[in-house]
Amino acid sequence: MGTASTCSNEVSRLEGFDFDCFRELTVARGCCVVNPEGVTLTKWLRSQIEAEPYWFHRMELPGGLVTPGWSDPKVDKLPYFGLPDDMSGLRVLDIGHAEGFFSFEAERRGAAEVVALDRSPDHARKFNICRTALGSRVRSQIASVYDISPERFGTFDLVMFFGVLYHLRHPLLALEKIQAVCSGTLLMQTAICADTSDTPMAEFHPHGIESGPPDNRVCDTTCVWFPSPACCIGMLDHLGFKGPERISTDAPVGGVFRAKAATPTKGQPPLPEKNMWL
Ligand SMILES: C[S@@+](CC[C@H](N)C(=O)[O-])C[C@H]1O[C@@H](n2cnc3c(N)ncnc32)[C@H](O)[C@@H]1O
Repeated sequence: MGTASTCSNEVSRLEGFDFDCFRELTVARGCCVVNPEGVTLTKWLRSQIEAEPYWFHRMELPGGLVTPGWSDPKVDKLPYFGLPDDMSGLRVLDIGHAEGFFSFEAERRGAAEVVALDRSPDHARKFNICRTALGSRVRSQIASVYDISPERFGTFDLVMFFGVLYHLRHPLLALEKIQAVCSGTLLMQTAICADTSDTPMAEFHPHGIESGPPDNRVCDTTCVWFPSPACCIGMLDHLGFKGPERISTDAPVGGVFRAKAATPTKGQPPLPEKNMWL
């Protein structure tokens, strides 16, 4: 493909521009003409953002673009979720990336490699729009937390498991999968129930709960398990994590927890012959 239109303020971003992604997204939208010469990157990205009916993350992107998500992770989450300021050299896993706010933030903070996964192709598509806008190297993999294994994904210095646990039918199984790949630190955020006692317990909502922006609440049937803080710590302890603790008790959304691998080691990529993505 040729070079895209190069307005001067866009030139630096085009260094990381992923033309395959551009073509895939354009074709996926049913456009018959793929001609980066005739459209500015920002204009094209704006059209892709506007074509998406639903955004979760509000993200500020280069060129004055903003994704119209109803969750503002920069304000409501990032200050509370325990991400190290300097993530240089870290191999990081972002489970349930949605549109990718935390993956891109880890990359921005210097992570050596970020593996981002989500079970939803819709989120992966929107992740790719943001990835293109940011010129990011992080790729989305469509996979479930239950698919995680050291053979397929390797091991990680930092695992970010934000906003997923309460969606899962099998939270302990998911944490067991995470424990197998976390060779450093786990940061976990989840919706929690109101019980603050020392007795580990969880609320189960068989038909989900109301969720979404204040002006458009809908029943989300995937929100089923709401553990207490003691239950979160108990599950991590049960699986062999060291020093599980609740952090940022002032976090406006749910509970945030941190735990360490029993035997910390440097995160390693998977062996090529065992990695189905290669
Ligand atoms: C509430 S959003 C959280 C997004 C982001 N991590 C955050 O904290 O802002 C939940 C995300 O988890 C994903 N998800 C739900 N179940 C999953 C599973 N079994 N495996 C991987 N991702 C899952 C959803 O598709 C969605 O993107």
